[in-house]
Amino acid sequence: MVIVLLGPPGAGKGTQCKRIVEKYKLVHLSSGDILRGHRANGTELGKKAAEFMDAGKLVPDQLIIEMMAGAIESAGGNCVLDGFPRTVVQAAELDKELSRKGQKIDAVVNLVIDDGVIENRLTGRRSCPACGAVYHIDTLKSKVEGVCDKCGGKLVQRTDDKPEVVKQRLATYHQQTAAVVGYYADNGRKILDIDAEKSVDEVTSLVIDKLDSLAAV
Ligand code: AP5
Repeated sequence: MVIVLLGPPGAGKGTQCKRIVEKYKLVHLSSGDILRGHRANGTELGKKAAEFMDAGKLVPDQLIIEMMAGAIESAGGNCVLDGFPRTVVQAAELDKELSRKGQKIDAVVNLVIDDGVIENRLTGRRSCPACGAVYHIDTLKSKVEGVCDKCGGKLVQRTDDKPEVVKQRLATYHQQTAAVVGYYADNGRKILDIDAEKSVDEVTSLVIDKLDSLAAV
C-alpha cells in the first residue's frame, strides 16, 4: 500500500502523516526528515543537500529518487510518502519504481491551503530533532515551553523556517511541485483534495473519510 500526501510547505503533511500511519499501520516516509537525518549524521548526501535546503530550493532529483527508492524498499512497500514526489520527474520515476515491484500508488491526498496561512504556521513551528514531534507556539504548544512532551528533547526552530526562506520554499512549490498534482490527474489518478485550513482534527477526519470511501486502505 502506497499513499502519496501532497501539499505546500506547512500544509500539515507531517502532522497528518503521523496520524494516518497510526490508523492504517503504514510507515511514514518523509523525504525532509530523512534528509535532515543525513545532515545530522554528516553523510555525503547530507552535505550535498544542505545548501539546497537552507536556500529553500529542491535537492537534485537523482539524489532524492535513489534515497526514497531505498526507503520504500526498507518499508516493504507499505508507506505514506510525505514530501515526495516533489517534481514531475520524481513522480514519473516513482511510478516506474513501483511498477517494477508490481505495485502502484493506491491514493493521492492533496492538502489545499492558501499561501497566506502558511507563513504563520511555519515561522511558529517548533520541532523535536530527537523524536520528530512537531509543535506550534500558538496552536499546538508543548506543556513546558521549549521541551518535547513525548521524549523531553529540546525543541528547535528549523533553519528553513525563517521568513525569508519560507518565501523561497513557497515560490519553489509553485514553480516545481504544484505540477505534480496535474501529473497525477493527467495519468487518471483520483486526487483527494482536502481543505487543510481546518483544525488538525478536522483535517484528519476529512482525510480518513476520503481514504475509507475510496476503499484504498
Ligand atoms: P520538508 O521537510 O518536506 O518540508 P516541507 O514540504 O516544506 O513541509 P514542512 O515539513 O515544512 O511542512 P508540513 O506540510 O509537513 O507541515 P507540518 O505538519 O510540519 O522539506 C524540507 C526541504 O528538504 C525542502 O525545502 C527541500 O530542500 C528538501 N526536500 C525534501 N523533499 C524533497 C524532494 N522530494 N525533492 C527535492 N528536495 C526535497 O505543520 C507545520 C506547522 O503547522 C506545525 O507547527 C503544525 O503544528 C502546524 N499545523 C499543522 N496542521 C495544522 C492545522 N490544521 N491547523 C493549524 N496548525 C497546523
